[in-house]
Amino acid sequence: MAQKNNDEQFKNVISHAKEYGFVFQSSEIYDGLSAVYDYGQLGAELKNNIKTYWWKAMVQMHENIVGIDSAIFMHPKVWKASGHVDGFNDPMIDNKDSKKRYRADQLLENKIDELYSELANFSAANKAKFEEFQQEILGLSDEGQAAWIPGFKDEETILDHAKYPFVEEASWRFVKKGLALEVEMNLALKSENLAQLKDLIVDYKVICPISKTSNWTDVRQFNLMFSTQFGAMAEGSDEVYLRPETAQGIFVNFLNVQKSGRMKIPFGIAQIGKAFRNEVIARQFIMRMREFEQMEMQFFVRPGEDKKWFEYWKEARLKWHKALGTNPEKYRYHDHVKLAHYANAATDIEFEFPFGFKEVEGIHSRTDFDLTQHQEYSGKKMQYFDNDLNDEGKPYGNYVPYVIETSIGLDRMFLLTMINAFEEQDLSTEDKQDSRTLLRLHPALAPYKVAIFPLTKKDGLPEKAREIMDTLKFDFNCIYEEKDAIGKRYRRQDAVGTPFCITVDHQSLEDNTVTIRHRDSMEQERIAIADLSEIIGKATSWKTLLA
Ligand code: GAP
Repeated sequence: MAQKNNDEQFKNVISHAKEYGFVFQSSEIYDGLSAVYDYGQLGAELKNNIKTYWWKAMVQMHENIVGIDSAIFMHPKVWKASGHVDGFNDPMIDNKDSKKRYRADQLLENKIDELYSELANFSAANKAKFEEFQQEILGLSDEGQAAWIPGFKDEETILDHAKYPFVEEASWRFVKKGLALEVEMNLALKSENLAQLKDLIVDYKVICPISKTSNWTDVRQFNLMFSTQFGAMAEGSDEVYLRPETAQGIFVNFLNVQKSGRMKIPFGIAQIGKAFRNEVIARQFIMRMREFEQMEMQFFVRPGEDKKWFEYWKEARLKWHKALGTNPEKYRYHDHVKLAHYANAATDIEFEFPFGFKEVEGIHSRTDFDLTQHQEYSGKKMQYFDNDLNDEGKPYGNYVPYVIETSIGLDRMFLLTMINAFEEQDLSTEDKQDSRTLLRLHPALAPYKVAIFPLTKKDGLPEKAREIMDTLKFDFNCIYEEKDAIGKRYRRQDAVGTPFCITVDHQSLEDNTVTIRHRDSMEQERIAIADLSEIIGKATSWKTLLA
C-alpha cells in the first residue's frame, strides 16, 4: 500500500512539475527525447536558487574556495588520463526476444534484491547481524570472498551457529544465495569478466521483465561518453567528447587557479555545469538523465590530511542538505565498501525518494590520482610548493596534492526539493469540501518570493498594487495577478510555493496598509506597505540557510 502511495505521489509530482511550468519533456511536440528534459519558467527560477544556495555555501562562505566555469569540450587526452575512455563503461546485455537492452549489473542487482527480500522474515536483531556479516565478507580480499561462494551456493551448508546465529532462519538459503551472487557479481565486475556476468544471468535464471524469457546476447561494454567531431586536431583525430563530469575542468586548471589566485593549500575549486552521459537505462524522470548538471568542488589538501578533510566534507555537506528543514530521517550516508581504484574513501549522501533511498551526492577521497595522471599525460608538473613548516621545522616542499571531491547532481537536488515540498492538503470542514496543493519550499528557494494582487481590477487598486511591485521587484522576484477571485489566486501561488501574497484593497488607498498572507499557515495580517521589504527580506534571506 505504502508503495502504491509512493508511486502515486511521485506521479503527482511529475504532473505538477509540468502543469505549473517547472519541467517539460525535451522536444515534446516531437514526442520527446528520452532522458532529456527542459526547465520551464518556474523550474529555471528554482534551479537557479538551488545553484545560488550551493555557490554561496561553498564559495562565498569559504575564504579558501573559489569558483570557475570551464568549457564543456576538453582535449581528448583529458579523458584518456582520467580513465574515462577506457573505463567509463557499462556492461550491457540485450534480450533477443524483446530487443530491450539492460545493464547486466542492474539485472543482477535486481535478482540480489529479490533474494535479499527474504530478510523481511528475519528478526531485526538477526537482520542486523546478517548485515554485519555481509560487510565482513565484502571487506575481504578477492580470494577471501571467492572462498565463501561454494558454501553460500550449497543449499545444505550451515555456518558455525555460535558465530552466526541468524543462519537458523528458514529464509537463510535464499539470503545466502543473494550473498553468493553479490560476491560473484562484484568479482566479475572488478575483473571485467563479461562472460562471467552472462553466466551469472543464465545460472541465476534472470528473465527479461518484458519478454519473460532468458534468451540473452553476450554482455558487451558500452562507453557512456558522447562524442562529436571538432574540426582538425593536431594528432589527426577530430573526435572530442562532451564532458561526463565537470571535475576534470577543475583538475586541468588546478595550477592556473592556484597561481593566479595565490591560493594556499588547503583550498578548493568549485564549479557548476552541464555533464553528459549516454545512460542506457534512463528512468525516474530527472533522476537519471543524458544531459544533466553537476555542482562539484575539488578540495586540494596535503597528503596525509585527506582522511581528516574527507570527514569534514562528509559532515559539512549533510549539514547543507539538512539546513533546508528536511526531515533528517530522509537522509543517510552510504559508505562505499568497494572503492574505485583511485579512491581511498567514498560515501554517498542518499535521500529517501518515493522509489527508495538513492544517491544525491557523492563525497570522494580521490587521492592524488587525477593530478598525477594529468601530469603524466600532459608532461606538465602538477605540483604545489608548500612552504609551511612540518613537525621537524622544515618546509613540506613540493608535492602533488590529494583531493577530496564533493559532487552533487543539480537535477537530483531539484527533484528532491520538489518531492519534499509537495503536499496535498485536505482543508475540508463539516460544511464544505476543500483541498489545496502546496509546495512548501524554503522561502529562499521559492521561484516567486511575493505575489501582489489588487482585490479588484478598478478603483485605482491595480495602480497601487503596481506601485508596490515597482518598489519590491529590485530585491525580490514578484508576480502580479489580477485575474480570478482572491481565493483562486492564493491557491495558484500555494501550488508554486510563493511564500507571501499581498492583497491591495480600498483601505490600502487610505492608510497605506495591505494584507499579507503566509503560504504555510494561510494566516493573514494587516501591515504597513513600508514594512513589506523588511518582512519578505528577512524570511527569504540566504542568512536563514547559511548562518
Ligand atoms: N566527479 C564525480 C562524479 O561525477 P558521480 O557519482 O558519477 O560522480 C555525481 O556523479 C552526482 O551526479 C551523483 O551523485 C548524481 O547526483 C549526479 N548524476 C550522475 N549521473 C547522473 C545522471 N545521469 N542524471 C542526473 N544526475 C546524475
